[in-house]
Parts: sequence; structure tokens; C-alpha cells
Amino acid sequence: MPQPRVALIGLGIMGGGMARNLLGAGYPLTVYNRRRERAEPLAAEGAIVADSPREAAQGADIIISIVADDDASRAVWLGDDGALAGAARGAVLIESSTLTIGWVRELARLVADRGCELLDAPVTGSRLQAAAGQLVFLVGGSDAALERALPVLAAMSRDVIHVGPSSSGALIKLINNFMAGLQAASLGEAMALAREGGLDEAKTLEILTNGAPGSPLIRTLVDRIASDDPAPHFALRLMLKDLSYAVAEGERLGVPLRTAQAAREVFGSAVEAGLGDRDMSAVGDQFGGR
Ligand SMILES: NC(=O)c1ccc[n+]([C@@H]2O[C@H](COP(=O)([O-])OP(=O)(O)OC[C@H]3O[C@@H](n4cnc5c(N)ncnc54)[C@H](OP(=O)(O)O)[C@@H]3O)[C@@H](O)[C@H]2O)c1
Repeated sequence: MPQPRVALIGLGIMGGGMARNLLGAGYPLTVYNRRRERAEPLAAEGAIVADSPREAAQGADIIISIVADDDASRAVWLGDDGALAGAARGAVLIESSTLTIGWVRELARLVADRGCELLDAPVTGSRLQAAAGQLVFLVGGSDAALERALPVLAAMSRDVIHVGPSSSGALIKLINNFMAGLQAASLGEAMALAREGGLDEAKTLEILTNGAPGSPLIRTLVDRIASDDPAPHFALRLMLKDLSYAVAEGERLGVPLRTAQAAREVFGSAVEAGLGDRDMSAVGDQFGGR
């Protein structure tokens, strides 16, 4: 059987790595990115670069989007130039961005009206895991659609977890990231307190990472703080977005996420201080940074 043709929309930190793994696995790949210059290098590696999401989607069996937020996702799927307008009947559409449940459900209905199926399949892992094909997909949607998409998802990941029906992948991702966000916010505040109290930074980090608070995430963030690599792995403004989406979903379901609200406040003050494009490990620098 010929390899399914794949379209990938969004070539940011995550999408760029994902595209290279799809090419490495031999999939015929068409890519689209709003700023075309981010897509051009992939042409030399074998991808076709499309001028619009619609053009990218045309003729594809599997269409994947991984963009910043709800607004970006709407922009790439909807409208005359959107990917939905180009999707062939029977294609499997995969939304891997971290989004609100409301928009994911709306998109699933629009996709079904078009005679296609949507999988919400956000990811865990970050820049390094995207580049290494070691992501984990958290999938909501039907068994049949997932069965068709599985080999393609497998080329970018170390695991594909079928969470449940449509939008359940999106929900577990918001839950996952609100827990991650509040750990990051607590580390930022902890380091600010240590600095103000005159503690040695290196010693403080060592004690915290080797003690009970030293979760895998805290260790990862501390490694990023210690490294000289200024390139973000996960932009701080995107964690603010995830916390905001989680708080909104909690309100909708009558579960006030007070810890997520507090973390959102900490991330919000970091964005106001101009740290939005920095890696999320910079949260807390607004209290007198490194
Ligand atoms: N980085 C991580 O560690 C990580 C981990 C798990 C999940 N995620 C999620 O994955 C998604 C992508 O993250 P990322 O880190 O790859 O972000 P990123 O590097 O900031 O890239 C964002 C992408 O979205 C596009 N975009 C933004 N606004 C748009 C709009 N209005 N219309 C069309 N395209 C738009 C950007 O296009 P331009 O290049 O033209 O700006 C770019 O392709 C987000 O939902 C994020 O929450 C990220």
C-alpha cells in the first residue's frame, strides 16, 4: 500500500521537529507555515511548501495542525484558504495544538460536516522530544480514525495514548499542563524568595531538585536554567495560554482551579514584564531576575 500523504500546518518549535521526523520516515509531506521563511528549509529536505493551509490539505490523507492557540487554529482550519476547505472527504484531520475544549468540539462538528474525522491529539514532550521523534500523543476520537493515523503518529512519538472520545485528549492536556504550570510558577517564586533572603542560588537549586520537590519537570527546568542555550523550548506566553484555558474549563465544569489561577497570575506578571517569548523556565525572573 502506498504511504499516506501527509500535510503539516505550523512549523514552530514543535512542528519543525515533527515535520523532519515525518520526512525521515518517508512520508510524502506538504507543509504550510504563516511565515513562509520558516517552511523554506524543509523544501530542501523533501517537503512541498504550500502557499495556504487549503493548498497544503488538498490531496492529503492525514492533515495535522500544530499552532499556537485557538485563534491560530481557527485561522488555519477555517475560511476560504483554510485547511478544511481543501480537505478531501474521508481524510483524517489531527489537531495537536493545546486548545480550549469548546473550540475542539466546534472543530470536530465542522470536520464531520465535511465528511472527515477529527482526532484531538495534543502532545507532551517539548522541543528536544519533537526533534527526536519522542513525543507522546494524547488522543481523543474514534478507534477507526486513530487506526488510520497511528503509523503517522508513531513516526513522531514514543507513545500514542487513546484517552477516549473526541475532546478527551484536549482535556487531559489542559489538566497535564496546569499541573506543570503551577510547578514552574512555584519554582520561580521559590528562587525569588531564596534570592531576596540571600541564599546561594546554585546550592538552593541543588537542594530543591534533589529533595521531595524535585519532580521530573522541576529537574528539566533547572537544567534549562543552568544551560547556556537561550533558545526557548516552550514559550512562557504559551504556558499562560494553557493555564487560562484550564481555568476557563474548570469554571465551565464547576471546578474552580484555584492553584491554576495562582499560577496564571504568576505567568501573567511574567508576560507583562516582557518575558513572554522566553522559555517558561524564566518565570519568576520578573521578581528580580537572574
Ligand atoms: N513547545 C513545547 O514545549 C510544547 C509542548 C507541547 C505542546 N505545545 C503546544 O503546541 C503548539 C505549538 O507550540 P510551539 O512551541 O511549536 O509554538 P511556536 O514555536 O510559538 O509556534 C507557533 C506556530 O503557530 C503559528 N501561528 C501563530 N499564530 C498564528 C495565526 N494567527 N495564524 C496562523 N499561524 C499562527 C506560528 O506561525 P509563525 O511561524 O508564522 O509565527 C507557528 O507556526 C501550542 O499549542 C503549544 O501550546 C508546545
